[in-house]
Amino acid sequence: MNRKYRKTIIAGNWKMNMLASDIKPFAEELKALVPKAKWCEMVFCVPFVNIPAALKAFKDTRVAVGAQNLNENDHGAYTGEVSAAMLADLGVKYVIVGHSERRRYYGETDTTVNKKVHAAVNAGLYPIICVGESIEQREMGVTGELIAFQVKSALSGLAAEQIHKIVIAYEPLWAIGTGKTATAEQANEVCNSIRAIIRKLYGARTARSVTIQYGGSMNETNAAELLSKLDIDGGLIGGASLVPEKFAAIVNAANQEQA
Ligand code: PGA
Repeated sequence: MNRKYRKTIIAGNWKMNMLASDIKPFAEELKALVPKAKWCEMVFCVPFVNIPAALKAFKDTRVAVGAQNLNENDHGAYTGEVSAAMLADLGVKYVIVGHSERRRYYGETDTTVNKKVHAAVNAGLYPIICVGESIEQREMGVTGELIAFQVKSALSGLAAEQIHKIVIAYEPLWAIGTGKTATAEQANEVCNSIRAIIRKLYGARTARSVTIQYGGSMNETNAAELLSKLDIDGGLIGGASLVPEKFAAIVNAANQEQA
């Protein structure tokens, strides 16, 4: 396994779960479970209102805090929205962009995703860009084309030196929250195709350095196999990230892979 060129990132996506008051006990429990977390980076992407509590709870730990969304505009009359600069100002490091739940329930398009990626990178944030196909698209045999379209659209207009700041999460829609994981081979095949697209656009050296995660029912039992694949550099984890033991088991599996 030769991953010295890129970071392994295990990121939790808490979605609309957890209260601010739950975070400190969670952080303490987790800390005791991942004493040897020396390789992979840990992140929790939390609801906006819980960002200050998360930053406080994870201060002086190896856990970074991320947001789950941002607005594509710098500032202005966008009631209820949050800008990249506001997140960066608080000390947020990562931000999920284009999660399938945002695409499906809130009408996010590939064009909006691209604008949000630019907003994030310009503010110094690391976007975690989500791409993935539905079960119908997989059965139609268009997964490759669709993922290529989503990745190219999301990265459009970014310079090679900005690509070092992005993370891509391959999340097949049929695997999210369903308990049905892609096989390690299926996941690796798509992650590999994403790296090939980046190679074509930005060259081999850049492609080698980009972290590409798998997401979709990754848990404590299937993580080791998924993370053993060469092009899967971590996970974006929903359900299992809400339970310290489960998240820690995934982190420890990632560390094992790197050791
Ligand atoms: P899941 O969610 O792990 O609960 O399937 C993953 C995600 O939506 O990022």
